Formats: sequence, structure tokens, C-alpha cells
Amino acid sequence: MSILIKNIKELVQVRETNVTIVKGKDMKVLPTLKNAYLLIEHDTIVEFGPMEDCEDLYAEEVIDATGKIVMPSWCDSHTHIVYAGNRSKEFVDRINGLSYEEIASRGGGILNSAEKLQNTSEEELYKQSLERLNKVIKLGTGAVEIKSGYGLTVPAELKMLRVIRRLKKESQAYIKPTLLGAHAVPLEYKNDKQSYVDLVVNEMIPEAAKDRLAEYIDVFCEQGYFSLEDTERILKAGIEHDLIPKIHVNQFNAFGGVALGVKYNALSVDHLEEMAPEDIEALKDSNTMPVALPSCSYFLSIPYTPARDIIDAGLPLALATDYNPGSTPSGNMNFVVSTACIKMKMTPEEAINAATINGAYAMGISNMYGSICRGKKANIIITKPISGYEYLPYAFGDNLIEQVIINGQLVK
Ligand code: NIG
Ligand code: FE
Repeated sequence: MSILIKNIKELVQVRETNVTIVKGKDMKVLPTLKNAYLLIEHDTIVEFGPMEDCEDLYAEEVIDATGKIVMPSWCDSHTHIVYAGNRSKEFVDRINGLSYEEIASRGGGILNSAEKLQNTSEEELYKQSLERLNKVIKLGTGAVEIKSGYGLTVPAELKMLRVIRRLKKESQAYIKPTLLGAHAVPLEYKNDKQSYVDLVVNEMIPEAAKDRLAEYIDVFCEQGYFSLEDTERILKAGIEHDLIPKIHVNQFNAFGGVALGVKYNALSVDHLEEMAPEDIEALKDSNTMPVALPSCSYFLSIPYTPARDIIDAGLPLALATDYNPGSTPSGNMNFVVSTACIKMKMTPEEAINAATINGAYAMGISNMYGSICRGKKANIIITKPISGYEYLPYAFGDNLIEQVIINGQLVK
């Protein structure tokens, strides 16, 4: 199958060389080509250029993109798409005055989702998760990381990871699986957290690493959840089983989680709503991608990740959704990009870089995804006719995505 997209008003995130990360001032640079064409063969971007060079090209399918923007699809490097039911009742409790932490300490929150998930069949869990995945694909997401973490027992965590594996096999989107066994301490371990950490280290990690059911190891490093010591033990055990760290840190409190992630060469440190100057220092000269989740800040009314401090310090930044039932019941990357511009003072260029190439980096796939580059996978967004790419974050809440191509296939 070959597809030729012609008369593209502006082809966005065009890279002549295979750039795999953008940092600091370079994040303001978003290379584009006006009045362009893009040629896809099978699942690969094979050529692009100005319209005047496209006369002799042939393809089985030709798409006229007059007035439209064409760009790489979103790379969402942090989600919890696999969950059962929802927590809309807790949403109302929060409106009526309870905090996220108060709800969690009453046995709601993650433990509430874990109970629902444990009582849901694998087939039903797959069905609910696939529905969410298909929804975000239509919103332009072509690659997505998915975490376990609502099982909190060995069988239930493995059930989640098997659902992720099935999504990976049966969906067109590119998927990376993460073990987040240390997401919350189950009630039965309330007074004996160490035994739960033992279970994660001695049973969950070895089982999840078998057949590469998981590729990453995550921990919710936060007061009331897992301490620096717990996190360190779990990261070490994960690394021994070839799982790469990608961790939740600094959501509510900054107490050294970022430096710990850097010490263990985490691929990413995510959330970062609370950042101390030493957290920014720790990230300098590291290969760790800081990841901001602005929809979570929006939904919980907590601070936004200080993107300007991070980028102005010369660091990279990625944007992801955090799609989950408790803190972010939305997987819409368009909203994430818009909110990053509006609330975090990122320019549209920075936000698009953060949601494409840097998001791909935070999943270890930026050599194949995240930009328009010859030889890369053809995961493409075609917008409705719009005045320019900055119109995407400007018109927040609109769905401006007309067509999506994943692996060289038009998504119906
Ligand atoms: O990334 N912070 C920890 N985990 C999720 C929320 C989990 C939940 O409330 O269900 C997050 O925001
Ligand atoms: Fe999360």
C-alpha cells in the first residue's frame, strides 16, 4: 500500500536527519515545509518535499491536503489506559471539598480502582481498554505507553500486563508496557508495607519480566505511597531483570525522587508538579526525560509543572496525558498540548516538540517515531483546514483532526 499526500499547506516537524531529542532553546524550533507532499510506502515515510517535485510520483491512494496541516501523530509516553469502570463519584466528592489525598486515605483512589479491576474479567478489561485506545487513536495518538498498577496482586498485575500485550498485538498503535506494581499499598499491607515491597521485588518483577510482558519499571514515589528507599529497592530489582525505570515523582512533594531516577538512569521522570532547584540540577547532564502531565494538574487543580524553568535551564521536556480513572480521565493529547501553551507558557513549537519527538524519546522509540523523517514509521495526523499549526492549541477543546494514518494505514 502506498499513500501520497499532496498540496499540504504546511508539513510540520520535518527533519532531514534523524534527531531523537530536542532540548532547551532548540525546543522553540519546529521545522516545517510549506506547500509540500509526503509519500508513504507500506508502513514507512519514504519521501517528502515541495509540491513542484511531486509530479512524477505515483501512489495507490492520493489524499489532497489543501489548507491542511500534516504532522507526526502524538506520542503519549505516560498512560494508565487499562482500568475497570471509572471514579466519577470521587470526582463529585472532590467538588464537595475532599482532597485527592483524603479520598485515597479513606480507601478510595487507586485502591478503589484496584478492587474494581480485580473483580473484572480479563476479557471485559480488554474490551473497556480497547475502547479507550481506539478513542485516543482517532484523536491523533499513534504511540502510547501503558502502565499496570491497578491490580496490586501478582495475578491482577499480570492480568493487566496481558491485556496490554493483547492491545499491542491487536491494535494499530505502537504500545510500550510498564509494570507499576508499586502504585499504592494494598489495605492488607497497610501496617506492613515492606512485605508488599518484597512481593513486588520477589514475585511481580520476575513474573512481569518473563517474555518481556513489561519493559519498564515504574514506582509512585510519593509521601503516603512509596519512599525513596522503597523506590530504590524496586528500581534495582527491575534493572536486574532488564526493566528500565520510568517513574512517578514530585507530584505532591519534592524530596529527591528526581535525583534517584537520574541515579538509576531512568528513561523518564514524570509529573514534576513540585520542582526544587536541585531537581533541575539533577536532570542536567543526564539522559532522563522530564515529562509533564498538564491534564492531571487541570483535573486535580494542583500546580502545573514549571516548564519554563525546565526548558530555560537547557533541558528537554515531554508532554503526556496520564490517562487514568483518578487524576486524569482524558487521553486527549490535543488538550494536553493546548493546556501546556495556555497554563505552562510553552510556545506551540515547544509543545508540539514535547508531544511528538520528546514523547517518543520517553518511550525509547524516537529513532522510529515522532518526526517526519525518511525511513521513520508513517504515523501521521492530517488536520481539518486551519490557518496554521498554532491554531491547534489556540482552539482548545475543538477536534481539528480529520484523518489519522498509523503504520501507513488510514484509520477508519
Ligand atoms: O499518575 N499518581 C499516581 N498515579 C496516577 C493516578 C492514579 C489514580 O488516582 O488512579 C497518576 O496521576
Ligand atoms: Fe500516572
